[in-house]
Amino acid sequence: MKVGDTHFRSLWADPAKSRVHFIDQTRLPFAFETRSATRVEEVAEAIRVMRVRGAPLIGVAAAFGVALALEHDNSDAGLKRAVTTLKATRPTAVNLAWALDRVEAKLTGVLPHKRTELAWAEAQAIADEDVALNEAIGTHGVKLIEALYLRLKRPVNVLTHCNAGWIATVDWGTVTSPLYKAHEARIPVHVWVDETRPRNQGLLTAWELASHGVPHTLVTDNAGGHLMQRGQVDLVLVGADRVSRRGDVCNKIGTYLKALAAHANGVPFYACVPTPTIDWKVTDALAEIPIEERPADEVRIVRGLDLQGLPSQVAIASANTPVANPAFDVTPAELLTGLVTERGVFKANERDLLALWPKSQRDQAYLT
Ligand code: MRU
Repeated sequence: MKVGDTHFRSLWADPAKSRVHFIDQTRLPFAFETRSATRVEEVAEAIRVMRVRGAPLIGVAAAFGVALALEHDNSDAGLKRAVTTLKATRPTAVNLAWALDRVEAKLTGVLPHKRTELAWAEAQAIADEDVALNEAIGTHGVKLIEALYLRLKRPVNVLTHCNAGWIATVDWGTVTSPLYKAHEARIPVHVWVDETRPRNQGLLTAWELASHGVPHTLVTDNAGGHLMQRGQVDLVLVGADRVSRRGDVCNKIGTYLKALAAHANGVPFYACVPTPTIDWKVTDALAEIPIEERPADEVRIVRGLDLQGLPSQVAIASANTPVANPAFDVTPAELLTGLVTERGVFKANERDLLALWPKSQRDQAYLT
């Protein structure tokens, strides 16, 4: 998508294939800066501290990380080390392991001197597929917004949590793709943007929507239930970090509370899900999906600009205040109205998921 007049992807490889460039999301929304990496360790650091973040994007970044690693060491041990290092960066979003397994499988049985070129090509294919998957999610998701607009005959109020925007993917985003398509089609839409403590990914969503002129309002995480009770939310769209084979959705902490509020108030609640986010091996999401526990200082310390407009941090709790910081939660399939995927919109249940993805296709991102 565009930043100013320039089209950007959130991450891209140098044409010389010696480095990978990416938008540093820890600097947003206050500053737009790009960085580059030439070594796998730099990619791992970028994922760990969330310079690159969002389930699809960390998968793509990791795939390019393998290519960078092989530039320096294309041995079996070098490949194994790169995959292990990158897999250890973040545990919850399945896209990370999915992309690494896909690159590793592509390189299995390939002579070391031929691996690097193949790794770059596979990482690029994953990146390009991600763009196509997200755009297709938009094509299907916009129909939900359009139907609501035709019924309500006023701007459609959509609530979203976290950032499932174009910077959380390579382009388009999952949740933002239907929103951008609605805006392009002149379907009036307004977005309630949850702040999403503690990392405030909502500020990234607000920055994205502002850049594209999509009307939006930033709200605190606790406002959603109140807005729904008052009929001020017509639709909830959230992203996903891992979806079980029965349609349970693991997403940013706080998603579950929004789903409960939506259920209680009869507000349709959908997760936007590209195929690589489905973990076919998981049947019991609550028991099987590892929930990342992030550093306590993310809760204790708030970052922003001071009154002079300079980057600043303030502690809102003492260093010895005990803190828990689970980064994700699980919304059971029963609370979802449906899933918006690149193959269409359908119910979140095992029968529909398995019918749409025959066994032979389950571990791949296929566009139909
Ligand atoms: O911790 P983050 O910012 O990486 O978490 C991101 C989310 O939870 C998103 O909703 C999800 O990855 C979908 S992004 C298209």
